[in-house]
Amino acid sequence: MVRNSVSVIDYRQPNSEIQEPRPTHHYKMRHDHLITTKQLSRGDIEAVLDRAAEIDAEPEAVAGTYDGTLLGLLFYEPSTRTKMSFETAMKRLGGDVVDMGAVESSSVSKGESLADTVRVIAGYTDALVLRHPREGAATMASEFVDVPLLNAGDGAGHHPTQTLLDLYTIRENAGLDDLTIGIMGDLKYGRTVHSLAYALTNFETTQHFISPPSLQLPREVVYDLHQQGTSIKEHDTLESVLETLDVLYVTRIQEERFPDKDEYRKVAGQYQIDAETLADAREGLTIMHPLPRVDEIAPDVDELSQATYFEQAHNGIPVRMALLDLLLGDSNE
Ligand code: CP
Repeated sequence: MVRNSVSVIDYRQPNSEIQEPRPTHHYKMRHDHLITTKQLSRGDIEAVLDRAAEIDAEPEAVAGTYDGTLLGLLFYEPSTRTKMSFETAMKRLGGDVVDMGAVESSSVSKGESLADTVRVIAGYTDALVLRHPREGAATMASEFVDVPLLNAGDGAGHHPTQTLLDLYTIRENAGLDDLTIGIMGDLKYGRTVHSLAYALTNFETTQHFISPPSLQLPREVVYDLHQQGTSIKEHDTLESVLETLDVLYVTRIQEERFPDKDEYRKVAGQYQIDAETLADAREGLTIMHPLPRVDEIAPDVDELSQATYFEQAHNGIPVRMALLDLLLGDSNE
């Protein structure tokens, strides 16, 4: 098994600093949890992205290095990309997964608590990936386990591993400093938005938030971004800002999070883009979406050179391989 050496990140300290210089894959993460991007310093992020770039360039160098390692998948909500890319990443590293499967076919349906479930599966595995509809579920679950727990989405809260692959994609296409990004759609319930906005405070960015008034970024997130000194602006139309953007990050309206379906119907179908909408965009614009999309990006955008969302989804493999490598490396023991 390839093992890394070196620095310690304390994920319990917000924006913790690296305690030693970071020589790419000789970086290490402690056995700890990844719950939110608020925990991540610029050094932490760059360590993951640099390792992902190394793996992307030479995947055979890590193939099979985690033979015998088991990753537990606990998805209490539907997923395609996050679940399957974690499974692919672990298998490409030579490990394997154990999957709780659908909630309906697990003992969750008999009333088993999340705390009991994670305690049991942590005893079977070397790390856990948890998606749950309740905000804060990953924080609570992490208190019951002594293997790394990765938050794969907690309700409308956070989705930090999605952010790492988003940042990898942005770095590859536009660079992470002197960046002007527009984030559009459901900013209230979109957990990928919250995680991305916090992570970008580590870089020199201007963040434009485009949404209907009812789906604006939660006020506490706006407050936190101001506190971090990040330049942010809120808009209700894309036209007012499109020409200035290096990256346009589009999100789905999260129907499943609306307590009132009438409220969903009022905003459904707004904030769609098609090739015509983008006529005034910069040629070098990078168009991203965490996927799945419903109708917010028309199929004619797929043909544009600026469309980057499928590349973005594919980046989930090297990024999650890098994250697992940095979390599970033997120097963490
Ligand atoms: N982007 C994302 O989290 O996709 P899934 O819901 O398919 O995992």
